[in-house]
Amino acid sequence: MFAQKILLGLFACAGLSSAIPMDPVASSYPKFSGSRNPDSCPGYTASNVVKSDSGLTAGLALAGDACDAFGFDLKKLKLEVEYQTDERLHVKIFDEGLDVYQVQEALVPRPPHSKASPDSSALEFSIVEKPFSFKVTRKSNGEVLFDTSAAKLIFEDQYVRLRTSLPKNPHLYGLGEHSDPFHLPTNGYRRTLLNAESPGIPNNANLYGSHPVYFEHRGEKGTHGVFMLNADPMDIWINQTKSGDQYLEYNTIGGIIDLYFMAGSSPTEVSSQYADVIGHSAMFPYWSFGFHQCKYGYWDVNMVAEVVANYSTAGIPLEVMWTDIDYMDLRQDFTTDPERFALPKVRELVTTLHKRGQRYVLILDPAIHYNDSYAPYKRGHELDVFLKNKDGSEYLGIQWAGTVAWPDWFAPNTGKWWAEEIAKAFDAESGIDLDGIWVDMNEASNFCKNYDCNARDPGNNPPKPEHAPRPNTGRPIPGFPADFQPTKRAEGGQMKGLPNRVMWDPGYTVGTHLTGLTDNTILFNTTNYDGTIHYDTHNLYGHMMAHNTYDAMLARRPGLRPMVLTRSTFAGTGRKATHWFGDNTSTWEDYRTSIRQMLAWVSMHQMPMVGADVCGFNANTNEKLCARWALLGAFQPFYRNHAELSTIPQEFYQWPLTMEAGKKAIDTRYRLMDYIYTALYYQTKDGVPMINPMWFLYPDDPNTFAVQEQWFYGDALLISPVTTEMSDVVTFYLPKDRFYDYWTGEPVDGQGANVTQSGVSFTDIPVHIRGGTIIPRRVNSANTTALLRQQAFELVIALDAKGYAKGRLYLDEGEKIEQTDVSELTFEFKDGALSTAGSLGFAPATGEVDTVKKVIVLGQASAGSGGAFDSATSKVEIEGEWDLSKEFKVQI
Ligand code: GLC
Repeated sequence: MFAQKILLGLFACAGLSSAIPMDPVASSYPKFSGSRNPDSCPGYTASNVVKSDSGLTAGLALAGDACDAFGFDLKKLKLEVEYQTDERLHVKIFDEGLDVYQVQEALVPRPPHSKASPDSSALEFSIVEKPFSFKVTRKSNGEVLFDTSAAKLIFEDQYVRLRTSLPKNPHLYGLGEHSDPFHLPTNGYRRTLLNAESPGIPNNANLYGSHPVYFEHRGEKGTHGVFMLNADPMDIWINQTKSGDQYLEYNTIGGIIDLYFMAGSSPTEVSSQYADVIGHSAMFPYWSFGFHQCKYGYWDVNMVAEVVANYSTAGIPLEVMWTDIDYMDLRQDFTTDPERFALPKVRELVTTLHKRGQRYVLILDPAIHYNDSYAPYKRGHELDVFLKNKDGSEYLGIQWAGTVAWPDWFAPNTGKWWAEEIAKAFDAESGIDLDGIWVDMNEASNFCKNYDCNARDPGNNPPKPEHAPRPNTGRPIPGFPADFQPTKRAEGGQMKGLPNRVMWDPGYTVGTHLTGLTDNTILFNTTNYDGTIHYDTHNLYGHMMAHNTYDAMLARRPGLRPMVLTRSTFAGTGRKATHWFGDNTSTWEDYRTSIRQMLAWVSMHQMPMVGADVCGFNANTNEKLCARWALLGAFQPFYRNHAELSTIPQEFYQWPLTMEAGKKAIDTRYRLMDYIYTALYYQTKDGVPMINPMWFLYPDDPNTFAVQEQWFYGDALLISPVTTEMSDVVTFYLPKDRFYDYWTGEPVDGQGANVTQSGVSFTDIPVHIRGGTIIPRRVNSANTTALLRQQAFELVIALDAKGYAKGRLYLDEGEKIEQTDVSELTFEFKDGALSTAGSLGFAPATGEVDTVKKVIVLGQASAGSGGAFDSATSKVEIEGEWDLSKEFKVQI
């Protein structure tokens, strides 16, 4: 208990409790602290405009005296425009000297493309030379998608501004990570992208990840997307001028303008095109869709085993058990507490879990305890893997383990060292056969404000030092370097960042809910191995840690899909990792927030395997909230119950209602597992989202544009949960289309209007099947996903108004990266008959089943040629045995 109290105290000392003050959206323009008003800046003049077969290049020169608004104006820039595919246009504005930082290709590989022709492109780029501005137009209907003429471009060493005009009341989405409305506000709204420790996931604030991509929907005129490949901290303002002109404006404190325009024109096509830019999501193991249980505060191995056993006794399937930092010795990575998590017993725990078909995941933090007697640190030090101050000493801060150094993921040995420490700790030394790794605190979170932990450089305008209470870790904290460390100068011409920039308090103040730009994280002037500095690469830290951890897992279990869960992310993290929404609170508000967040992450940020801490992390949950959340989470991709140290236990077996809701939720989810696994497969393959916001499927219906408390799980199941506190009533929108109640099969004709359903018990959730779809599901659920694969299938055919339906099913072995025996089946129902087609290579393992035992048709007017007909619900059920490894036909 002692260490627990110390750590709680530490967190509280650091001001990182969930009561952290929030920074409301500033209603005014960002604080001006430069020498002139940015609106008086001269802009640029374009010259030497040279057109090519696939785009154009031009030079840009500052058009007058420097305004040096928030830094120093760059005099000469270059413009490169490339039509990369018929639907994608790339516009890049960068410094002639190539000094300004550009995101390393190794971190975000640029999309492969063959140059396209301006003639065949869906988009058109046009340039105005003086003052320089540009426009992007959709050719098919003349819609101007982006137009920078309303405000002059500013390109300074510590401030870049680019504004585009937008139509009035635009429908904008994306720009995560945030907890704000899914349909973004359009006036006085600032989205800050600065990855930060964010207890309580405050609204109107920068959270753990940065995804500078937005989708704009113009109803029948199409949807397009804009991605700004810039990792520097930034504010994106969505605002209106005094005269009411709508705009979106990027304000970054560094980096270049690197824009990808994606033409769509359907929302799903924009998703696919964005996946092509940042990389498609990894395919995650079949078992990762199982139910996961975690809590900070599972104090010893006995308690972990007890929770697993309690789930069994309660008859609630549990697929994956997690252990938080509790397992570590003194909160140090790669260790196990010798008493509470004594090794023979942890090994036994894992072996037992595996025998039962269950899995085990452990947490790792990036911060490495700074002490020569701690072997992982010592080895890392010898391999030169830690971030450095200018004098070559390691940059230090404070984290769970006390004084810590942070891995520099750019250093040549870091990835290897990290993988070896994982292998050594879990394979060689402890023998803990981990199934996945959870990486946390990787924004990176630092419990101290830098100016308290490090001496300061008087030249860098440090904020007034305050004296924070010194955390007591029970171990000596070695002294910090005597003075603040300016960075190693970057060599010119290598896109590594301009020298001599202000690190503490640049002229332009990016909004943050913490107290300052570089507080509670790694100091911004910390130099990376490759000569770039943390100022520019901060937002990439968690991305790098997640990707390195994926590689480490792959090295341990060659050929198997790694399961890595990360808190901090950047565009493209989904290529290798999954994400949870961080430290939410057990409130109805955060229950609703999880829906908005999921919608943006899956469909816009191309990170499909996401979810919130079910039942809530901070503060005590309660029976009814947790029951509703058990059902809500079952229809979201990543399904994990997790809570904070000081809260009451909240496993689903804790209360009768929660137990009943949890059982029903997991039963339903498991039976639908192949359906959602198929949807994930197609997202990884084509970028088509596995979760659909309502407007993705009804883009012409304006009533759907702001819907943020309903979603399609896959493309067939509409989920409309009760979202108000302690209520049993839900009002939801049903588009003008044919639907069926999932639970009863009864047809419901959507009128393009709201429907109110009352009497929704705490163990119920309204779900509708969209007409025109076919859902493959298992006849029965099972205790684990391995056993689930031994259950036969049934096909639910939900006819549209014309008696037509289609669906698909992807089958593979579930865990291997390279799959040889797979089936990609399509089902089609027309003219009263079901038929299957597709590739049929799937070979079930011993005990697994790939037969269909039942076909259920919803919306059928009569019994047809056989089967049981229920005229009250217009449902036909036919039993039989059809083999999915062969094509078959069923006549109704
Ligand atoms: C952070 C994580 C949380 C975890 C805790 C202890 O707050 O976000 O999920 O339980 O650290 O490791």
